[in-house]
Amino acid sequence: MVQVAIMGHGVVGSGAAEILLTHKQQLFANLGEEIRIKKILDLREFPDSPIADRFTKDFDEILNDLEIRVVAEVMGGINPAYDYVKRLLKAGKSVVTSNKELVAAHGAELLSIAAQENVNFLFEASVGGGIPIIRPMNQCLVANIVDEVAGILNGTTNFILTKMIEESMPFDDALRLAQELGFAERNPEADIEGHDACRKICILASLAYGKHIYPKSVHTEGITGITLEDVRFASDFGCVIKLIGRVKKLKDGRIDIITAPMLVPCKSQLANIDYEFNGIMVRGDCTGDVVFYGKGAGKLPTASAVVADIVDCCQHLKERRFLFWADGDGSNIIDYRESVTAMYLRVKGENALEKAASLFGEIESSEEADVCAFTTAKMVYGDFLEKAEALKAEGVEILSTIRVGDL
Ligand code: HSE
Repeated sequence: MVQVAIMGHGVVGSGAAEILLTHKQQLFANLGEEIRIKKILDLREFPDSPIADRFTKDFDEILNDLEIRVVAEVMGGINPAYDYVKRLLKAGKSVVTSNKELVAAHGAELLSIAAQENVNFLFEASVGGGIPIIRPMNQCLVANIVDEVAGILNGTTNFILTKMIEESMPFDDALRLAQELGFAERNPEADIEGHDACRKICILASLAYGKHIYPKSVHTEGITGITLEDVRFASDFGCVIKLIGRVKKLKDGRIDIITAPMLVPCKSQLANIDYEFNGIMVRGDCTGDVVFYGKGAGKLPTASAVVADIVDCCQHLKERRFLFWADGDGSNIIDYRESVTAMYLRVKGENALEKAASLFGEIESSEEADVCAFTTAKMVYGDFLEKAEALKAEGVEILSTIRVGDL
């Protein structure tokens, strides 16, 4: 029997406990041993739980229990998760986590401690919820040079955008619904401002390129400025709007990484990923495009990945899974203004399209009453910013600008 603990009994934690109890026989058959939840850490009371007697409010009861070999951290946030995870690893326990904020902020350090202590630190659930992506990238695709990773990495914003696209539902109503369904972060600003998706693309980029990429090095835009008008115009251009996390390896070896809403052509595989589903495209130099798709948020999908990591740790109590990247200083990342992209603009003003064409060259356009929109050819983003200023100087009001993704 392997004794484990779970820290946190929220959406994901209660899901992990539920799976460990309801799938006990199946997990036994896979591991050849029983996995028993010995302790659950939470400050709240859960008198109706079938294992109510195993709850504790005291972290030390888990840290100092020599029988507990594997701990799942599903509390979320940096504090106290960071301190707890470090102390658990140093105490020789393997740790699994769904906490993308923690991995994006301290992954390199925690992986290094795990290596020193010969224990495992696994985080499959931190990206893509129930979709296997960390393990496939780390193992199945290891023979490839990863040229690009691009994905819809946040279920809440994808749910909101899908409701806006399919039902013309206003932004606030769609966000409320996502919160009720349990997809949104405790503070949904992390979802709608793009920080959650940014953390996830940082984790994938660190894994792909071997050096930690910190969220502060990544230009990040959220979806709060996207309107139903943008959604309609995007459709005129044969596109849908999606929040994309993307990293590309450039010819000179540097990395172009961004999190931002993009117009995605309807023919792209990422265009048809709707609601809380996530989709991640990994472009390997040997494999070409490999696409991962599934539920990126929610109780049981995310808990499924947490439990899989627990099982993996139980299978490897005496050896370390090779999962590692070094610390990084951001010097391998280009400034976002150097990035090359086509752009969509929604504008208002007299002769706006003529003025736009004279500045931007060939454009594709669409008009509605007193507002119009156009898309440009690809250009360096810094040059785009200069041309946009020039357009404003000619009396054209710019209501919205969104990148057009070549996805
Ligand atoms: N708030 C996150 C999302 C949860 O909506 O994708 C899963 O990481």
